[in-house]
Amino acid sequence: MKPIRILITGASGGIGKVLACDYARPGNTLVLWGRNADRLQDISRICRERGASVLTREIDLSDGHAAITAFRADDDVTQFDTVILCAGLSDMKTASEKTERAETVLELGLVNYAVPSALTMAAANRMQARGGGKIALIGSVAAYHDLPFAAGYGGSKAGLARFASSARIALAPLGVNVVLIAPGFVDTAMSRRIIGPRPFLVTPEAASRHIIAALARNTGETIFPWPFRLLRLIDRFTPGIIRSAIMSRITADQKPR
Ligand SMILES: NC(=O)c1ccc[n+]([C@@H]2O[C@H](COP(=O)([O-])OP(=O)(O)OC[C@H]3O[C@@H](n4cnc5c(N)ncnc54)[C@H](OP(=O)(O)O)[C@@H]3O)[C@@H](O)[C@H]2O)c1
Repeated sequence: MKPIRILITGASGGIGKVLACDYARPGNTLVLWGRNADRLQDISRICRERGASVLTREIDLSDGHAAITAFRADDDVTQFDTVILCAGLSDMKTASEKTERAETVLELGLVNYAVPSALTMAAANRMQARGGGKIALIGSVAAYHDLPFAAGYGGSKAGLARFASSARIALAPLGVNVVLIAPGFVDTAMSRRIIGPRPFLVTPEAASRHIIAALARNTGETIFPWPFRLLRLIDRFTPGIIRSAIMSRITADQKPR
């Protein structure tokens, strides 16, 4: 297999960590971003043991200007041909709260939408000058439904989905492939905060396989597991008034972060 030079954000977490392991082999260079230093060191050790060259960066992606500067500095060194923007956070209104917290909604917008979108353009700008590259954005099926208890999360992922489909059209002629991956429930720390059922739950290993396949096949949008593709279709063709009546009855709760 051709060696790749890849940036993975959120590599200290569930899906990003498995992705890093799956790409870790001799010849590949991995640049792993995360906030938690200990978890980043753990994953970089595993990837080095598998033969990859690894660099890490501790970074908080709620600071967009710092993220763009860091990306350019790492790209100067590594010249990425593949970028997977996996870092994200989820949140919702707990059963005891009347509204979502304003600060949380802001953070969700920055980390899930604004910063990955900005990093996509920073990466595309560098990649097109080198003849092309691949960028994967990790969204969520939450983008496709009106979730009254998670307007901030759903809205941030909906913004990312629209950004991805627009950027895909804009960047394809420059040789830069943008793919969006929209998972349902994945068994990581993120979804374990949910109090209640996690229907059609998949493993982070399965999520990683979907992301790698989407990049290899240049699939514009990948929604998994399949029942969520069906749900999206049903949502699309259900009149708004009925949709709102159904969604307003759904309740959800979560454990603290
Ligand atoms: N799990 C699911 O059910 C599910 C479903 C749909 C979509 N997704 C999406 O899949 C992606 C990965 O989620 P996951 O399940 O692997 O979650 P996770 O286990 O909670 O990992 C999240 C990762 O994002 C990083 N991150 C969060 N906030 C950050 C910030 N402000 N700055 C820098 N890094 C930050 C975390 O870094 P630290 O741990 O170092 O803080 C961690 O590496 C996310 O975009 C998520 O929205 C997940």
